[in-house]
Amino acid sequence: MTTTANVYQNYIGGKWQSAQSGETFSNHNPATGELLGYFPLSGEVEANTAVEAARAAFDSWRLVPAPKRGEILFRVGELLKQHKEELARTMTQEMGKILKETRGDVQEGIDMAYYMGGEGRRLFGYSVPVELPNKSGVAMRDAIGVVACITPWNFPIAIPTWKMFPALVAGNTVVIKPASDTPLSALRLVEILYEAGLPKGVVNIVFGPGGTVGEALLHHPNVAVISFTGSTESGRHVAVEAAKSLKRVSLEMGGKNAVIVMDDADLDLAVEGILWSAYGTTGQRCTACSRVIVHSAVSKKLTGMLVARIEQLRLGNGLDENVDVGPIINASQLEKIHSYTEIGKAEGATLVTGGEIAREGELARGHFYRPTLFTNVRPTMRLAQEEIFGPTLSFIEVQSLDEAIAVNNATKFGLSSAIYTQDANRVQRATRDITTGILYVNSGTTGAEIQFPFGGTRGTGNGHREAGLAGLDVFTEWKVVYTDYSGKLQKAQIDT
Ligand code: UN1
Repeated sequence: MTTTANVYQNYIGGKWQSAQSGETFSNHNPATGELLGYFPLSGEVEANTAVEAARAAFDSWRLVPAPKRGEILFRVGELLKQHKEELARTMTQEMGKILKETRGDVQEGIDMAYYMGGEGRRLFGYSVPVELPNKSGVAMRDAIGVVACITPWNFPIAIPTWKMFPALVAGNTVVIKPASDTPLSALRLVEILYEAGLPKGVVNIVFGPGGTVGEALLHHPNVAVISFTGSTESGRHVAVEAAKSLKRVSLEMGGKNAVIVMDDADLDLAVEGILWSAYGTTGQRCTACSRVIVHSAVSKKLTGMLVARIEQLRLGNGLDENVDVGPIINASQLEKIHSYTEIGKAEGATLVTGGEIAREGELARGHFYRPTLFTNVRPTMRLAQEEIFGPTLSFIEVQSLDEAIAVNNATKFGLSSAIYTQDANRVQRATRDITTGILYVNSGTTGAEIQFPFGGTRGTGNGHREAGLAGLDVFTEWKVVYTDYSGKLQKAQIDT
């Protein structure tokens, strides 16, 4: 095939390298079908080489004083700021979400660079009194080794920064395998890390499928930590395989997030929050709202208000500033999303708007789905239980706050929830009883800030959190040092 498209390479041990087989895969714009470039179709060989490079770099990187490691991240933050617009445009071309959102994605990376850069001068451990005289104790955080980051396509810069930046500031080295739908954004991020002064081999990027590259990372004895974001099905596989060699695993998986709207809610405000969290990023966020649990007294009114707004949403290429909703990432996701429309109809839910692939005009070139709303959804329907990862929203009616909270909590996921009410007592009850990792009061289900822990309960995660102070935990090992300066043998628990 004759083409002028760029051919990109892996970056391993400070060297650009093709896959040993010479094979590549192509990267396309989901809004237009345009070819963006070719990336190496790597496999076990490349993954192993990258792990070895990261392992070799670990010996010296862990000894670089943490404040110096942090300074590199500050420079990364500056460079991300300088290149924000161009990175956002690349990301929109590569995965479709509108420019406003891809700018936000880069901003999340900038925020993380400064936050974790600052950790270079903290990485707090602690010292507490010891029970014997002339003795001290201190608990400190140690680097662990090679961290493998397996990252998704929906936040192609932000999510790699949530994983790589805490790992790096703590003194670990990294192999990243980005999603095959968004290799270019991840590559740009890695280039910026090196422009900021990262020593060679500290971060290595390998492109290719989860089935080969991901598997090799899972099984390599020198990978100490796996940080994975993706589907619950793949996450479970990662956990099972990694357990065999006792690797540490952090999983961030699916969601079935709900906005609760009580009968005293400010409905205008609720409409804004629901629109943004259900149809922003075309519903392709782990934090996307896919259920509205609405008090029956305001259900009809809210539906009417929302439908009017949904039908005004403009679909199209995210590079066009007038577009509200971009494409679906690829043909198979489009098919999956549409299958849920069929499932919903068969289950007896009422399709109020959307529910079809959009093909008019320019849209025919890409993968577009009309923003979709179902009413008369029962909490146990598949529509209300399974992650769709698309612009499909279900209305579930309830009669009370207790029922709303029970429905909210009754899914196998537990990432994010929201409640609209003006009653302070209801807010307190929701705060106490909602069992997701994140709760928003009078705001939609998205919009997490990086200085707080991000993650969820049940099938959403495995107990770890990304970002904030908690985001360091999976990438550090606690080491406790007792120093006895009494000059004699003192026995804890015995000589006290
Ligand atoms: C995701 O949904 O995959 O809170 C990540 C948010 C963003 C991050 C979302 N800051 O929606």
